[in-house]
Formats: sequence, structure tokens, C-alpha cells
Amino acid sequence: MPRYVVGNWKMHTLRDEAVSLAEGVARGIRDLDPAEVVVGVAPPFPFLEAVGRAIAGSAVLLVAQDLHPEAQGAFTGAVSGPMLASLGVERVLVGHSERRSLFGEDDACVAAKLRGALAAGLDPILCVGERLAEREAGRQEAVVAAQLDAAFADLDPAARARLLVAYEPVWAIGTGVTATPEQAGAMHAFIRSHLGPAAPPILYGGSVKPKNASDLAATPGIDGFLVGGASLDADSFLAIVEGCRAAPRSE
Ligand code: 13P
Repeated sequence: MPRYVVGNWKMHTLRDEAVSLAEGVARGIRDLDPAEVVVGVAPPFPFLEAVGRAIAGSAVLLVAQDLHPEAQGAFTGAVSGPMLASLGVERVLVGHSERRSLFGEDDACVAAKLRGALAAGLDPILCVGERLAEREAGRQEAVVAAQLDAAFADLDPAARARLLVAYEPVWAIGTGVTATPEQAGAMHAFIRSHLGPAAPPILYGGSVKPKNASDLAATPGIDGFLVGGASLDADSFLAIVEGCRAAPRSE
């Protein structure tokens, strides 16, 4: 099974910056075997098409940051799965903690988006993770289990096989505080046991940097990364990709 490293650019970059960042990533992974590491970039919506052109012919996957659950309709400002698919998007983030906390997305909304993505032929990256107060109260596993249960309810095995899960503890996102390999490894093991034998690959996200990528990637159960801030610079993103590729596999 390959590892995965996906850069979530969030609401950063202007058009030309997005294109040159994408070109830098595509150039940097020219010699990388996608059977070892699958690399993706998730630019802002307006730049998906230009970034898609910049990575055409490379192994870089085009990923979107969000979608609306419905295929079309009177939803001013929203972007649907079929629109993304028509731009060549292959995967889409669903349930990122910033969507949950800043845009009021609850588990039902996340589940609807997951189904909208699957129906449009987009493979979802389901994001889960607890807040600091929930971890301090010892509730991190219960919180993540509830997020997983809401999203996975009624998904058939074929749909499950198309997912990636990203564990992103909210307290580690954009804070410079990374989960330790032990904390991340423990949660990944919990997620894997909760989802059972057909559990999808599980990525870690939250202040992943070139300096901590190797240790995290060498941790049993961590199948790759969802990278925020450090994905905005091609060199630091590529260093994380290389740290992931070179880390010993635990299986
Ligand atoms: P940072 O890497 O900036 O902490 O962001 C993580 C994240 O939210 C990726 O989706």
C-alpha cells in the first residue's frame, strides 16, 4: 500500500503563486514512484483548473478542500462534486476541523458531503479529530469514534475502499504543537481497530514539518500526512514527502 502526502493550501496563494507551487511539486516528485508515495495538492477552488494544468502529466493528484453535498441547485456561492470532477479533481477533503468549527458543519453535514463526493466519483479524505478540551477530559477516542460512526454509517464496502481518513487533532493544527508519535500512533491504532479489518489508510495532520515527518512516518499505523502550513513552500513540502518515503515501514 502506498503512503499518501497531501498538501492542504487552505485559503492561501494567489493564482500565479498557486501555479508555481504546483509546478514545483510536480517537478520535485518526477522520480518518485507513486506505488511508494501518492502526492496530492488541494488548492483553493478558483485555482483548481490552473493547478490541474500545471500538474498535468505528473503523478500529483488534484484534491479539493470541500464540496456542497448536492449535485446542483440554488446554493449561492457553493461548489458541487460534479463541478469539481469536471475540472479533473480526484479527491476531496470532507469534514476538516476548520469547516466543522468555523462553518458550523456537524456530523450530519459531513456525512451528506461524503455521500455527495462518492456520488460524483470523488474519493473522500474524511477528517476527524478532537479539540484540546476533549483530550484533556480523556474523551479523544469517544469524540473520534462518534465522528467516524456518523460518517461511515451505511457505507458499503466498495465506498469504504475509496476513503482515506485523516486524523487531525484540532490542538495541533496551525499551532506548531505536533502530536507526539506515541499520541498519533495510539489514535491511529484506535481508529483502525474501530473501523475493523477493512479500515482505510489513515493520515496524520497537525503541524507536520520536515523536521518531524520522518519520526511520525516511521510510527506504526501512520500511512501518510495531510499538511497545512508546510505545504505552501515546495521545498518544505517535498522534504516531508521524502521523509515519508524514506521512513521504515512498520508492517
Ligand atoms: P498545519 O500543518 O498548518 O498544522 O495544518 C494541518 C491541517 O489542517 C491540514 O489539513
